[in-house]
Amino acid sequence: MAQLWGGRFTKETDQLVYDFNASIGFDKKLCEQDIRGSIAHAQMLAKQKILTEKEGEDIVSGLQEILCDVKSKKLEITDEYEDIHSFVEENLTRRIGNAGKKLHTGRSRNDQVALDMKLYVRDEIDELDGRLKKLLETIENIMEKNLHTYMPGFTHLQKAQPVTLSHHMGAYFEMFKRDRGRMHDIYHRMNLCPLGSGALAGTTYPLDREYTASLLGFDGPTKNSMDSVSDRDYLIELLSALSTIMMHLSRFSEEIITWNTNEYQFVEIDDAYSTGSSIMPQKKNPDIAELVRGKTGRVYGALISVLTTMKGIPLAYNKDMQEDKEMVFDAIDTVKNCLQLFNGMLSTMNFRTDKMADSAKKGFTNATDAADYLVKKGIPFRDAHGIVGQLVLHCIEKQISLDDMTLVEYQAISPAFEDDIYEAISMKNCVERRNTIGAPGAQAMEAVIRENKLYLRKN
Ligand code: ARG
Repeated sequence: MAQLWGGRFTKETDQLVYDFNASIGFDKKLCEQDIRGSIAHAQMLAKQKILTEKEGEDIVSGLQEILCDVKSKKLEITDEYEDIHSFVEENLTRRIGNAGKKLHTGRSRNDQVALDMKLYVRDEIDELDGRLKKLLETIENIMEKNLHTYMPGFTHLQKAQPVTLSHHMGAYFEMFKRDRGRMHDIYHRMNLCPLGSGALAGTTYPLDREYTASLLGFDGPTKNSMDSVSDRDYLIELLSALSTIMMHLSRFSEEIITWNTNEYQFVEIDDAYSTGSSIMPQKKNPDIAELVRGKTGRVYGALISVLTTMKGIPLAYNKDMQEDKEMVFDAIDTVKNCLQLFNGMLSTMNFRTDKMADSAKKGFTNATDAADYLVKKGIPFRDAHGIVGQLVLHCIEKQISLDDMTLVEYQAISPAFEDDIYEAISMKNCVERRNTIGAPGAQAMEAVIRENKLYLRKN
């Protein structure tokens, strides 16, 4: 057992207590961030003459060597240390002697761990953002190629009005674009440096907090030392944004699972992204989509878990907060994996555009357009709605679609119908005439695609 705080204790810690308390098993993920933070701290201490120049330099090069050795696996992070902070400090002292013991001057593990987590989250936000961008590029690509791929749009999972695959994909483009926006907002709100807050009440050493903050790429130092060591808002915001990403991925997965069924056959998932059954030879299962949908639960769980952990904690630092790490690490890793796998599945998926168009023709998706046709002939919309209702009943009885009715049949229900009705309710017209901003018509969609491309180029 290696501890940084044995001085006032006369008895050894019970092994079970030690294990329960230790965090090295998971906070070893913070090694690089811990070292980056310590280097900045040492440089600031030297600049402020709290350490000599030589001590500062020895600490910095010692820390760099430790990081190198850990990365090359020459040095292993084992659970003989309580946490990553003890691991780094003890290894430093072993390497450079007494100067190593001065690194912790004017610092507490409370502001240290707060800093490490912020550095970690910042790095991961960049990574998540990159993966979201790749997904947006895949979606954009599908949008461009499918401006005229007709498919049914649904409400209540009932066929409603025809749309295009481009338009349907465009909905997901908006969702993941907002997700990127949320990441961006969180990054900027959290980008203040907690280092120098000490345990809770700052320190009497003449630290230059502005300097440390700028060395580490922060917009400045945090403004209240008690809040600095006990603020986990940014983790909750992050988990909430990650939950929203998963909610979007899960809805998308659910659609792909449905589209992949025998009944729909709108898509074929690439062999590389599907799995078989051990008993039923005909099966090709959408496991990746199902797993993404399933893993949404653990990310929501992490959000609720950290919210609950934080709700009863008095100021300032309390050990409860150590519980944030496993939740955040797991949620970030899960979302990163899901984004990557989902993107691979989507970019290799085959869209059966023939099946989509066929399906759009069935189910009276052009009924609204038939009513709009009557409105243009001077019939009030409410009456037109009733007349088209009668057409639909007639079609259901005869098992045909609106396009298959003869003009005589039309006119028997309303004399307002003329032979331009067929053009008015053709799939092409139903979709292509919808060109208000945000609608599925190709003209409206082309404008959106132009904007999306510009956005991807600039962001
Ligand atoms: N492992 C601790 C955590 O994750 C580090 C901070 C420890 N501070 C303390 N006062 N015991 O929160």
